[in-house]
Amino acid sequence: MTTDALIATGDPLVLDDLLRLAAAAGAETEVARDSDAVGAAWMRSPLVLICQDMADDLAARMPPRRPGVVVVLTDEDDESIYRAAVGLGAQHVVALAGAEGWLVDAFAAAAEPSGPDALRVCVAGGRGGAGASVLATMMGLTAARAGLATLLVDGDPLGGGLDLLLGQETARGTRWPALTGRSGRLSAAVLRESLPLVGDELSVLSWDRGPTEPIPVEAMRSVLDAAGRAFAFVVVDLPRRLDDSAVEALLSCAVALLVVPAEVRAAVAAGRVAVGLRRHASDVRVVVAGPAPDGPDPGTVAGALGLPLAGVLSRDRRLAAAIERGALAGLHRRTRVAGFCARMLADLGLFDQRLRGEAAA
Ligand SMILES: Nc1ncnc2c1ncn2[C@@H]1O[C@H](COP(=O)(O)OP(=O)(O)OP(=O)(O)O)[C@@H](O)[C@H]1O
Ligand SMILES: [Mg+2]
Repeated sequence: MTTDALIATGDPLVLDDLLRLAAAAGAETEVARDSDAVGAAWMRSPLVLICQDMADDLAARMPPRRPGVVVVLTDEDDESIYRAAVGLGAQHVVALAGAEGWLVDAFAAAAEPSGPDALRVCVAGGRGGAGASVLATMMGLTAARAGLATLLVDGDPLGGGLDLLLGQETARGTRWPALTGRSGRLSAAVLRESLPLVGDELSVLSWDRGPTEPIPVEAMRSVLDAAGRAFAFVVVDLPRRLDDSAVEALLSCAVALLVVPAEVRAAVAAGRVAVGLRRHASDVRVVVAGPAPDGPDPGTVAGALGLPLAGVLSRDRRLAAAIERGALAGLHRRTRVAGFCARMLADLGLFDQRLRGEAAA
């Protein structure tokens, strides 16, 4: 039998409390009511909770070292517990009273061990209307079409809503207002199942049409952490004026793309946005939207910003009308923007040359 957590206690009240927390996290448990019962189960589960009533006795048996051992305190005045915790090789000592949230997260982490982390990319515009939200959306659609589980995150509370951009405003599912109160560990499976889906693979976390509020940092952190476990690719559309949650997204992204129209004034405005991006993201690249006949060439724009040029995003006149009709997803594959996104995702190592061709087809 493999379970997510072993609970070792002979105290029925403590056991009840811990079983309740495990159930809240959806974790399967096995229980050892005396030290003898711990022996065989010691190495079996990712999480081992040794409660205070059994800690001394178990430590005296010198069980083999293993990760994931937690000592649960019920009497905080008993200082001898720390000696027992050292003997058990415990990674944490937590008090049952007051650490319920921590314990639920620990049970949840044991029930849903982290797999490979998704590639996260942030997209910001160098000036208003630069095309950042469209690029973020098209990158999401391209990755999804290539079969990658993809999440598109609307990180701009004052934007028009990425669900609207995709014509998905009536789609059922969770939106930001339901998540802004969240902190701590979110279940990856629950996040993925609850979000609206465009086609088979593109999940979207957007706003609804009600009033918006800033996204708390903790909520963005919880969402991106769970998204890292639930998806292969996560793209976040950022506001130009970086708020705390945008900073949180930048800190966790592999690459930040700055979309800059090929115009002198846009390049100057983008310089201000670039300062913020560079402060929080280690790899910032410029996407020049254009080229414009009278504007600077893309290399000059990137050079002026002191950032590497990721590529040149061509304008496609059909996009504006498709967005108005809510038909962007349908038009997507027939645009040069989709080909651009496929090259960009291949450059980021997200899919190989074969998929790159298919995604752009
Ligand atoms: N590649 C493109 N080709 C043609 N038109 C585009 C392209 N990208 C964006 N647009 C047009 O520009 C408009 C604004 O684009 P978008 O909303 O992506 O800009 P943004 O940088 O996110 O702006 P904001 O400052 O509002 O966040 C779109 O509604 C669309 O009409
Ligand atoms: Mg936008």
